[in-house]
This record gives sequence, structure tokens and C-alpha cells, in this order.
Amino acid sequence: MKLLVINGPNLNMLGIREPSIYGKEDFAALQNYIRASAKELGHTVTLFQSNHEGEIVDVIQSAYGVYEGIVINPAAYTHTSVAILDALKAVGIPTVEVHLSDIHTREEFRKHSYVSLVAVKTICGLGFEGYRKALEYFTEEGLSS
Ligand code: DQA
Repeated sequence: MKLLVINGPNLNMLGIREPSIYGKEDFAALQNYIRASAKELGHTVTLFQSNHEGEIVDVIQSAYGVYEGIVINPAAYTHTSVAILDALKAVGIPTVEVHLSDIHTREEFRKHSYVSLVAVKTICGLGFEGYRKALEYFTEEGLSS
């Protein structure tokens, strides 16, 4: 399947940023992991990262009619962005939400996710592997449709 993988703000700081929560591997390692997993599973992936909410809205809008699925880690925008939620609703592309950490066992403000309101599946607390599980979701979907 043709999939778009979106990573939100500060994920480009992986490796430097709070390694006890997000791990020691850097963002380039995450991108390589996603590319390798996609190849193994037979998906074509485009990777996008931005620290800017509007850019994420733009890339979701431009996915309309182009991608069959979206994997998104909206990072901090998970907990704040009605605009990203609305963009995902507007395009109607099946979306799997991923978080490296388990947002449900951290601070209170991380427990609510706007994106979960539209996501077909939410995967958290599995580190890099969560992205692979998200790609696998689309493999299973592809097989059953
Ligand atoms: C995150 C969790 C968010 O609460 C946080 O703001 C992030 C990363 C995760 O991958 O665990 O930036 O989405």
C-alpha cells in the first residue's frame, strides 16, 4: 500500500531528547527502521516530519487521493490540535496513531488525544516497534480488502 508517515514536533530531536523516555536512538535511526519495515512488508512509504502544526495540516490535505493510509505520531499536537484532527477527518484516509512512550501512564495532560478520535488504531509505549505494528495494520487491511 502507499502510506504516508508523519512525525510531529521534537521527534527530530530523538537521541538527544529525554532518552530515558524516548530512547537513545536518533531520528535518522527511526526513519531507517520505518523504511526497512515498510520494504519488508511491501509498502511504499513517504516520510514527513515537521515542528509546525500548519505544515502537518498541509501535508495531510495533500495526501487526499494520493495515499491509502497514514501513520502519524503527532507528538505534542496529539494533545492540543483540533486542526490536525479536522484535517484527518476531511481527507478520510485510514489513520493509525503511534506514540513511542505510553501516553496513558505519563502526565495527566498527555492522556487525552484528539487524533485518537479519528484513528482506526492507537499504538503506544512500544518505541520504534510501534511504527512497524502500524505498518502491519495496513498489511492486514490490504489482505482483508
Ligand atoms: C509522543 C508523546 C507526546 O506526549 C509527546 O509530546 C511527544 C512524543 C511519543 O511519541 O511518545 O512529543 O508522541
